[in-house]
Amino acid sequence: MPRPASIHVCSACGHESARWAGRCAGCGEWNTLVEQLRPRAQPGAAARGGAALAGMRQALSPVALGEVEATWHERLSTGIGELDEVLGGGLVPGSLVLIGGSPGIGKSTLTTMALANLVQAGRRTLYVSAEESAAQIRLRAQRLKTGAPLQIPVIAETDLDAVLATLTAERPEVCVIDSVQTLHCAELSSAAGSVAQVREAAERVMRVAKSQRTAVLLVGHVTKDGALAGPRVLEHLVDCVLQFEGERERTYRTVRAIKNRFGSTSQAGVFEMRDHGLVEVLDASARFVSEATRAPGSVVLCAIEGSRPLLVEVQALVSRSELVPPRRVVTGFDRNRLALVLAVLGRHAGIGLGAADVFVNVVGGVQVEEPGADLAVALAVASAARRRPLHGEGGLPLACFGELGLTGELRSVAHAERRLAEAARFGLGPVASPESHATLQSALEAALGDAARAAVAA
Ligand code: TYD
Ligand code: MG
Repeated sequence: MPRPASIHVCSACGHESARWAGRCAGCGEWNTLVEQLRPRAQPGAAARGGAALAGMRQALSPVALGEVEATWHERLSTGIGELDEVLGGGLVPGSLVLIGGSPGIGKSTLTTMALANLVQAGRRTLYVSAEESAAQIRLRAQRLKTGAPLQIPVIAETDLDAVLATLTAERPEVCVIDSVQTLHCAELSSAAGSVAQVREAAERVMRVAKSQRTAVLLVGHVTKDGALAGPRVLEHLVDCVLQFEGERERTYRTVRAIKNRFGSTSQAGVFEMRDHGLVEVLDASARFVSEATRAPGSVVLCAIEGSRPLLVEVQALVSRSELVPPRRVVTGFDRNRLALVLAVLGRHAGIGLGAADVFVNVVGGVQVEEPGADLAVALAVASAARRRPLHGEGGLPLACFGELGLTGELRSVAHAERRLAEAARFGLGPVASPESHATLQSALEAALGDAARAAVAA
């Protein structure tokens, strides 16, 4: 009987077993066995488990770093400015870029648009769809008003070996694989999308890509909680991990780098989904500020997306609750962070909301994950609770940023100058921030006047 091509290795202790089991026989951990291909023991071939061959290898001679040849990477422009910037100036030949995002966010649209531009610029490209039929891809491409989408060479194939063979034969400069979770390696028994499959696919694609200097955009799905499903392992393997975020129903989407070997991870691009593809939102702050309302419960947050300042509106609604415990509904902001903000408001600003439903929304589908948003949430909630609008100078919306401490103090956050400069660009001032106020109480008094004082006195 032929030996099975794969073994199961415990990711906790390394124990190997021929069959899958729920519990590792080596260390007793549950759900740690991961299928992988059995190392091939051909002479000369790099053994994956390495140790056995190590003794027979020739010693290498180390080179001083200064003598290593390191040419500055040339870049391939995707023709999409916001994407190039997030990549650190375009695609690096031979690099592997993972684009993660939830279904429907626009990963296929973005990658098709990039290839359409590259084709028009005379580059060799290949679109591998392991999810949709060629006809479906054509229908999408027809909508796009950029580059030459109908000239993109495509294959619709899920078999890894067939894809690799095509890649080797076509030698494209840029290749999109949509998605890495639907590729299937026949030698592994586990289903497509499993850790073993995804890792095998990515590793083999990488070997081909590096050897022929093909830049590969790997599309990956993410689960509900935002983690890349299965391919956490991939994050170590690839050169660049881009995250495509935003809500499907919303217009705005952001692309940011969470890992980038060839650039910074502080860039973010903002897009809007239209009926002819994704459109770059070049001045997102202008859009958000002009849409900001002047009603109670609204405030403008000077946020930082990567290292780029972005003004977004934060809205709150406070209403008497019929429920115990009352409702706390947040979009675009962390729910636990809201609990903290409400506790500080109650304890240090006399705005107790124990019997009220509180809704907080970061407008435009933007996710703010930084503590600098605390003050905006606190001011929006206080303004909603007191039914007093927050105004800056000249009837413009109030802009703010800052982290709340548990004792009611305002704490400094990164990039204060950039935030202030962005607010100034739109004539928003004075900005409520840790620079101008030591405590939440003081910021509230400045913003709400009598309403804030009345609250404390009560
Ligand atoms: P898609 O790129 O297929 O998302 P993903 O690959 O991340 O799953 O497209 C997402 C949605 O965008 C889809 O529901 C249709 C919509 N869409 C537009 O609104 N305009 C367009 O021009 C295109 C191509 C898609
Ligand atoms: Mg898709």
